[in-house]
Amino acid sequence: MTERTFSIIKPDATKRNLTGAINAVIEGAGLRIVAQRRIRMTEDQAKKFYEVHAARPFYGELVETMTSAPVVVQVLEGDNAMAKYREVMGATNPEQAAEGTIRKLFALNVGENSVHGSDSLENAKIEIAQFFTDADIVG
Ligand code: CMP
Repeated sequence: MTERTFSIIKPDATKRNLTGAINAVIEGAGLRIVAQRRIRMTEDQAKKFYEVHAARPFYGELVETMTSAPVVVQVLEGDNAMAKYREVMGATNPEQAAEGTIRKLFALNVGENSVHGSDSLENAKIEIAQFFTDADIVG
C-alpha cells in the first residue's frame, strides 16, 4: 500500500554536505521525496518533536544536537514507506547498522546518526503535520 513517512536529515549530515548522497540512497530504494525543506530547528520545535524521549538521559543532548545546524525535513512516499525507510536507515546505533544502510554509510555515532524516520504510521502523520501542510506535499 502507498504510504507516507517523515524523515529528517540531521545536522551531522547537513554539516558534511551529505544531503544529496542521502537522497540518492532514499531514491535508490524506490522512495519518492514528495516534500522537502531545509530549516534551522528551533529549541521549541526539537523539544516538541522528541517529547516522547523527554525523560531519557540523552534528551538535552538530543535537543542540542538537533538545533546545532540546519536539518532537512522530508516526506517520503512509496509502497510500505514507513517500514521500508526504517530498513534503508539501518539500526539507530550505526555500529549495529547493516551494510549499505544510510547509518552504516554515513552516521558518526548513536547521537549523530544522520537521519530520523518515523517508527509507526500514526507517528508519521503527527510528525509530518509538525512541519508540513497538505499543500506542501506534492505526490
Ligand atoms: P531518532 O530516530 O532521531 O530518535 C531518537 C534519537 O535519540 C535517535 O534517533 C538517536 O539519535 C538519539 N539517541 C538514542 N539513543 C541515544 C543515546 N544513548 N545517546 C544519545 N542519543 C541517543
